Amino acid sequence: MQNFVTPFSREFAQELLAIYGSPLYVYDGNILRETINHITQSIAYPHKQFQFATVTNGNVSLLQIFRQCEWGLHANTPGDAFLGLKAGFYPGKIVYSGSNLNAKEFAELLDWGVTTFNLDCVAQLQLFCDIYIDKFAEKSTEETKPKLGLRLNLPELTGDSRIGVRPEEFSEVIKITNSVGLKLSSLHFYRGTGTNSTKAFTQVIEPILGICQLLPDWEYLDFGGGFGYPYHHNGVAFDWQTFGRELTAAIEKLDKKIQLIIEPGRAAIAGSGKLLTKVISVKWQEDKQIVGVDTTVANLSVPSVHGGYREIVSFLEVNKSDLYLTDVCGNTTYSRDYLGKNCQLPSLKEGDILAILDTGAYGYVMSSHFLHRPRPAEILLEKNQHRLIRQREDYNILLNGQIFS
Ligand SMILES: Cc1ncc(COP(=O)(O)O)c(C=O)c1O
Repeated sequence: MQNFVTPFSREFAQELLAIYGSPLYVYDGNILRETINHITQSIAYPHKQFQFATVTNGNVSLLQIFRQCEWGLHANTPGDAFLGLKAGFYPGKIVYSGSNLNAKEFAELLDWGVTTFNLDCVAQLQLFCDIYIDKFAEKSTEETKPKLGLRLNLPELTGDSRIGVRPEEFSEVIKITNSVGLKLSSLHFYRGTGTNSTKAFTQVIEPILGICQLLPDWEYLDFGGGFGYPYHHNGVAFDWQTFGRELTAAIEKLDKKIQLIIEPGRAAIAGSGKLLTKVISVKWQEDKQIVGVDTTVANLSVPSVHGGYREIVSFLEVNKSDLYLTDVCGNTTYSRDYLGKNCQLPSLKEGDILAILDTGAYGYVMSSHFLHRPRPAEILLEKNQHRLIRQREDYNILLNGQIFS
């Protein structure tokens, strides 16, 4: 048998494609809920809040699952917050941690009722405080008063990153914040996306807690996102239990009670998504199978553009000895239009179905109209049912906003 697990039966894949068309993003609500519960339960510390990083997937129906599981939302941009509000999140449950907003965008977030902001640099903090004092301070109450935090930049902890403020800048920032009647109450740490090593997180807990003590009004620690996902199915998985145990132990040793925020994106949603695609053509170049499918790098950019691996499986039952070195190519002649290179797949024929696994994060959200192919539909499997959660686009989408003279 093929050594990979197919997400469901071939008959079911055929049924889904017959109803919704191909290619098709399929999300499994049960897997998503199980993953959310696993992550939530791994951190015993009681004063915690999980914020799903919307940057990884902005489908409102999926965001609603996070809301039902009592997670909040992490917004990288005002667009992330906009989607969160449309999904029914209370604005106080949205944490903004991003970079380089202009004055209009900060005012938008404040207008929408977002109250927690982790800012990237002194200039962003100054701009935020100017807007707050100019337009919002007068009407703000104890409940709506913004809670401000700083994103940390310290190469020995955050690696080589453009984001964040160095500890030697803290006193300047505190002065600016206090001058408009606000407090700097949070420190935000971000390890960088796709970090599979658990130790990379656990070994920085104590130093980060030490740096937090430099903020006189410290109340929150936002430990960010970046937690990895094992795309190679025999690969190393991030160990949530160990991370949760060590983080809880370290925070409980503190002599004050702080609020903990965690912003997982990829780790929470990657495994619940698959992209189904049909084989269009097969040819052989010596011993290598070249398979053309009905999706493209523009529908799923990570494998080819960003060098990320995504496992591709067929629904054919064959022995391991009947697998061939295979390139899976998109339906354009763009030279980088590959969904997978050097995959191990059985001998395929036109009409066979392939599933590209673990595409729940940085999948649809990074798709584009490059190559002028409309985007696939998205569906959700839940409680033994399936339903459309985003329409398939048609060619009219390519004319959106264009002005004919
Ligand atoms: C501040 C912040 N938190 C969380 C995330 C989510 O990262 P990941 O999907 O690696 O968990 C991002 C990604 O851009 C981010 O910038």
